[in-house]
Amino acid sequence: MGRKLKFNIFRYNPQDPDSVPHTDTFQLDETESMTLFIALTKIREEQDPSLQFDFCCRAGICGACAMMINGRPDLACKTLTNELPAEITLIPLPIFKLIGDLSVDSGTWFREMNEKVESWVHTSKTFDSKAEEERMDNALADEIYELERCVECGCCVAACGTANMRKDFVGAVAMNRIARFMMDPRDQRTESEYFEVIGTDEGIFGCMGLLGCEDVCPKHLPLQDQLGILRRKMGWSAIKHLFRIK
Ligand code: SF4
Ligand code: SF4
Ligand code: FES
Repeated sequence: MGRKLKFNIFRYNPQDPDSVPHTDTFQLDETESMTLFIALTKIREEQDPSLQFDFCCRAGICGACAMMINGRPDLACKTLTNELPAEITLIPLPIFKLIGDLSVDSGTWFREMNEKVESWVHTSKTFDSKAEEERMDNALADEIYELERCVECGCCVAACGTANMRKDFVGAVAMNRIARFMMDPRDQRTESEYFEVIGTDEGIFGCMGLLGCEDVCPKHLPLQDQLGILRRKMGWSAIKHLFRIK
């Protein structure tokens, strides 16, 4: 016989002036290969149609379903209930604006972050649709692709001590973006231009290096390596700037 699961779920609708933050408890019979997506959908269909949570792909690709699962940020669609104890507490990710219950607006945070660190290829070349494509070395393309696997779920941001204390901190996800553009030969930014966007307390020098980000990243991105490389590069840039070394 399957387990009886007990869900403690954070409830609050900021759009409703009568709503107050509280926890609702739901009981559910566990089924084989049950994910939190299946469990939450069953609760919504059978017990409380007003329960809010986000899902799109159900395959760990869109990043929409991240939430705090027994205190740890993770993707709900990829989390099997049989990996968890029978009592499961779900709360929304911190830092991002709450839409309601378990649903947060991570899109606005990510758009602002991407604008702040200028997360696009900077080139003076004008695009010529008739020109032959420029080939990139396969090994380099693979290295860039490795960092491009980020699904912008926000788990690393939610787990980050600095991001929880400081609204202006761009997080490991932004550092990962910058590391990706630094590798890309099409991006013509100089080291001091990168320093302008990331060589600050809002960027790499605000990072405490405790690596909660890498521990929780559901895509297992090498955030530790990228943070280390950026810290060395930006530290060296700061020294060159200070002593006017070319
Ligand atoms: S290592 Fe830096 S970015 Fe990662 S969680 Fe810690 S403070 Fe945040
Ligand atoms: S780096 Fe990992 S944890 Fe952070 S947003 Fe991307 S996929 Fe999510
Ligand atoms: S629903 Fe897309 S990552 Fe979970």
